[in-house]
Amino acid sequence: VKRQECEEKVLSHITPLREEREHIHSVADRIIGAVNTSGKAKGMIAGSVARDTWVRGDRDLDIFMLFDPSMSREALEEHGMGLARSIARRLSGAVVEKYAEHPYVNTEIEGLSVDLVPCYAVDNAARIQSAVDRTPFHTLFVREHIGDLASDVLLLKQFAKAGGIYGSDQMTGGFAGYLCELLVIWYGGFSQVIEAASSWRPGVVIDIRGHQSKEFEDPLVVVDPVDPRRNVAASLTLTRFAEFVEFAHGYREAPSMDFFFPPVQGVLDFECFKAALGERGTYLYAIVFSTPHTIPDIVVPQLRKSLAAIAGMLDRYGFTVSRSDCCMGEARCMLLFELLVDSLPALKRHMGPYIWNGSNADDFRDKYRNGTFSGPYIEDGRYWIDIQRKHTSAGELLGSDSPLKVSLGKHVMASMQRGFTLLSGPGCWTEGFESFVSGFIRKQSPLVRIKQKREEIG
Ligand code: UTP
Ligand code: MN
Repeated sequence: VKRQECEEKVLSHITPLREEREHIHSVADRIIGAVNTSGKAKGMIAGSVARDTWVRGDRDLDIFMLFDPSMSREALEEHGMGLARSIARRLSGAVVEKYAEHPYVNTEIEGLSVDLVPCYAVDNAARIQSAVDRTPFHTLFVREHIGDLASDVLLLKQFAKAGGIYGSDQMTGGFAGYLCELLVIWYGGFSQVIEAASSWRPGVVIDIRGHQSKEFEDPLVVVDPVDPRRNVAASLTLTRFAEFVEFAHGYREAPSMDFFFPPVQGVLDFECFKAALGERGTYLYAIVFSTPHTIPDIVVPQLRKSLAAIAGMLDRYGFTVSRSDCCMGEARCMLLFELLVDSLPALKRHMGPYIWNGSNADDFRDKYRNGTFSGPYIEDGRYWIDIQRKHTSAGELLGSDSPLKVSLGKHVMASMQRGFTLLSGPGCWTEGFESFVSGFIRKQSPLVRIKQKREEIG
């Protein structure tokens, strides 16, 4: 297939350079040599470097250390981490212990961010004991099937990055590198992926090996060719899926460099932010607290759960939420709410039981005989009262201990119990969150962002 002119141009910017390739492989060889000479495990390059599908300038090297599968889980962790630490110390000095499904070590060697990941050397993908054991099989599969489509993978990765939808971490919920590789292999190239994706609707199933072993509910299902129990696109959200469809559609209509190197959306300055808020006429509130000390993929779902729980509480109290979002920074997290209603009158209508509801009706009438604005009165067969509202201002509700009583995730709860700050209006513009709050009020889809910039430039 002939490439678009802009695609050729993009490739000239993102294809790894020869010296970069040599450097990254020389570092990899040294690490693998160190793993192999330890006699404890076998070293293997994994991830995009092993498949020649990394985007120029990416500094990420994944090295897997394959251990004897008869070892216990504890022994693997102990020996695996011991070996990883000693290699990291010897080659760089810096050791950062990380944890995904299992612990691993991250270190920096000659400007590369190197992950040293212990896993089991299972001889057959059906014997996988944990998620990391799959990765070496991914490498084998991609190497075997990628043919001359590595450049197409680079284009797709860069395209997804430009749309803000690259990465399978919880916060992004987008396309993993391996998913990009499989899509290119399945459809036969970048433009074929774009063409297919521009008419995707939820429920797409791609089953390269024809496993048909399990039903998945996700918007996109790509059965892992090395493990039919797994959907490679499991962490792709419906929103990111739709953004990709939109972006692909837009690219097909008018291909351009913008779809790979998008115009940057500048952060508003404080004055513009304040003015924009004024125009919207809404009420912004932010809850800010310390980021829990656990892995991001655990914190992020808890942030979302907490966000939904607090938004639900606001709605129940009558403070209608227009939109909400969360942000996880290194040190602090923010839950942000935009409300249509900020203060309510003292009066609240409260529903009671049907009056033929025996003792409930009696109890209700007795309980509220005094102290109401009106009632108990009867409407459509049941008691009603007009009473004093507990919280007449959203700020007062959010500043009370009520947010701590809804179902927050465990770590978020612990952190918020230690204390949180409530910000409001322009005050939500706070250090470290400028681009988040700015992006919140200028929210737009990836394609709209590009089209709008194009119009601005003229
Ligand atoms: P990486 O996140 O480093 O991805 O995961 P990558 O393929 O190397 O892509 P880039 O170029 O760095 O962005 C390393 C490997 O872990 C497995 C894949 O085999 C991947 O190649 N993995 C990672 C998954 O199977 N699923 C994921 O969601 C993430
Ligand atoms: Mn990688």
